[in-house]
Formats: sequence, structure tokens, C-alpha cells
Amino acid sequence: MKKIVKFGIVGLGRLGRAHAENIAFKIPNAKLIAVCSIDEREVEEVQNSWGIEYGYTDYDEMLKNKNLDAIFVSSPSGYHCEQIKKALDAGFHVFSEKPLGLYLEDALEAMEAVNSHNDKIFMLGFMRRYDRSYAYAKKKIEEGHIGKPVLIRCYGLDPAPAMEGFLKFAKNSYSGGLFLDMAIHDIDLARWYMDSEIDKVWAIGGAYEYPEFNELNDAETGAAMAKFKNGTMGIFVAGRNCAHGYHIETEIIGTKGTLRIGTTPDKNLVTVFDDRGINKECAGGFLERFEDAYLQEVKEFVDCVLNNKKPNVTVEDGVLSTIAGYAFKESFETGELVEVKYLETVNI
Ligand SMILES: NC(=O)c1ccc[n+]([C@@H]2O[C@H](COP(=O)([O-])OP(=O)(O)OC[C@H]3O[C@@H](n4cnc5c(N)ncnc54)[C@H](O)[C@@H]3O)[C@@H](O)[C@H]2O)c1
Repeated sequence: MKKIVKFGIVGLGRLGRAHAENIAFKIPNAKLIAVCSIDEREVEEVQNSWGIEYGYTDYDEMLKNKNLDAIFVSSPSGYHCEQIKKALDAGFHVFSEKPLGLYLEDALEAMEAVNSHNDKIFMLGFMRRYDRSYAYAKKKIEEGHIGKPVLIRCYGLDPAPAMEGFLKFAKNSYSGGLFLDMAIHDIDLARWYMDSEIDKVWAIGGAYEYPEFNELNDAETGAAMAKFKNGTMGIFVAGRNCAHGYHIETEIIGTKGTLRIGTTPDKNLVTVFDDRGINKECAGGFLERFEDAYLQEVKEFVDCVLNNKKPNVTVEDGVLSTIAGYAFKESFETGELVEVKYLETVNI
């Protein structure tokens, strides 16, 4: 039996580099042997710094490397589906960053590819499910501590200092918009905790500080109210302009109690008492807040590959959250309450 999973990663940007470092140095039974990016300098820099054997600027070339077992996709979202399909066809297991795809048609094609390669493990990077606190909350719910979940309230707010970078990125390429790009994590969490799919949603939003969002047909800050198929409720707040930092917070109200995760999204356990009062700093961004979750999700993937198990996050989770995300987007754009249209081809 294989004892080690040899990875090639595509995408060495903000997140890809962190994943590459995790695979190279922090995950037992994993080895990073190949890196790929269209930016040659990134490839050389990572290869030279960490002694990675193979470097590519062409993804198709990396897929010819038969020493690899698995491909890690951390390229921009618009490439995910095609790269997933190609990697599966070339005989590799695949881990892909979220979202599965920017368009539903692409996500459905990726699902078809995953389902027609049953012998290969596929996992999608909804890493919040692997965060210690989020996983603990799920366990508490399953143990019945709050009774039956009735309402979920989610905050997903990016830090204001990331605004310049985000606007540059969004002007140059399609991000999917606030609900598909940002709220997608909360949509996945809500489906997971409420154990049901979203049935109807009404989403609103606007540009309050940065008019550029109007030109992008996107929201700087948005909110949505949803009803799930099992009758439970969801309230979602998403935004890009959070002054105090990266604010990820979730509350689940049940029939016998309430659970809150990250009520104040603290950077750490330090409280500073000084002439400004009593202060706690906020997490600065996703890499800091979910540092451990990014490790745990890949540990799970490696375990699944080595022991032929199905990961907790599936391709269907990617498709179902994309379908719901598009309903949020449609509601935001039309101002109407939208009924989510699921497809016969996707089990719910
Ligand atoms: N799970 C999370 O919390 C989370 C957080 C941030 C980003 N993401 C997702 O991760 C993905 C990457 O995001 P990022 O912020 O690291 O992006 P980024 O723009 O910082 O990096 C993209 C990388 O891909 C490379 N690249 C671009 N086109 C390529 C191509 N055709 N072939 C090979 N390489 C190519 C770039 O050179 C760069 O190395 C996105 O899909 C994003 O949605 C997830």
C-alpha cells in the first residue's frame, strides 16, 4: 500500500503558496514534488527556496509527470473546472480550492468528471468545516446540546485594507461577485449545520464607500435572508469593507440553546489594557484565521487518498452551494425573492 501522496500544485499566489508550504513541510505522508504557475518567477522562487524537484509554467506539462499522485488546484477560480477535469483524466486524485467553478455549467461538468472517475479522490476546499471551532460546534449540535437548529446567522466580512487588491482583481477578472465568491463559505456552512438545502432567498446590497462596486454590478456590503427546505432560516451578512479586520462569525439558534462561533473574531488570547482602554485585536485575514483549517483539510484529503475513503466535502457540496450562490446573486440583481432551482441530476 502507498504510504505517501506526491503532490503537484497549480497556483502559487496568496493562498496557493501557503498550501504549497503546508504540503511541503507540515503534512505527514504528503510530499510536494511539483509546482506550476504561469508566473515563471514564482515557480523558480518556490523551487529554489524549498528544493522542489519539478517546476512548470504549463499545466498540461505538469500532468504528464507520472511520478505524481495528486494535483492541488489553487489557481484563479475561472480555471478550476477545466484543471480538475484534466487532472482526473490524466489519472490523478484532485484537491481543488473553492469555488468549484464560476459558472454552474462548468461546475456540473466538473461533477460529471469526478463521478466518472470513481477510483479517484476529489475534495473541495471548504476549509471552515475543518476549523477546530466550527468542527466542535457541529459535534455539539449532533450531540443535541442546542436541540434542533432553527436559525443560522452568518457574518463573512473581508478586512478593509484588502480593498485595493480586491478591486484591482475584480476589475481584471470575473470574481463571481460578493455572494458567489465570499458568501459561498457561509452558504456551505449553513447547508452543513442546518442539514438542508436553501429553498428561497432574498438578497440585497450596495456600494456605500466604494462606488466602483456599482460599476462592477457587485455589492460592497450585502445581506440575505433565506428559508431552507426543512423550514429553518438563515441570515447572511457579507462584505468587503470591514474596518476592524477579518470578521467571520456564525450563530446557530436551536430549540434548546444557541451556539456562537467567533462572536468577537479575536486575533489571539491577548487583551491589552492601556491608556486607550481595554483592547483585543482582530484576525487580519483568511490565512491567519484559518491557518490550522487549511492544514486539517489537506490532512483529511491525504488520509482519504491513502485509505480510499470519501472526503467530508464532496463535489456535490460544490455544485449545491454554487446553485444556491447563483440564487443569492439573482435576488441581489433583481430585487426579487428567488426560489432556488435545483436540478434532477443533483441529489439533494
Ligand atoms: N478557501 C479560502 O478561504 C480561500 C481564500 C482565498 C482564495 N481562495 C481561492 O483560491 C484560489 C486562488 O486564490 P489566490 O488568492 O491565491 O489567487 P492569486 O491571484 O493570489 O494567485 C493565483 C495563482 O495562480 C497562477 N495562475 C493564474 N493563472 C494560471 C494558469 N492558467 N495556470 C497556472 N497558474 C495560473 C498565478 O500566477 C498565481 O500564482 C481562488 O480560486 C480563490 O477563490 C480560497
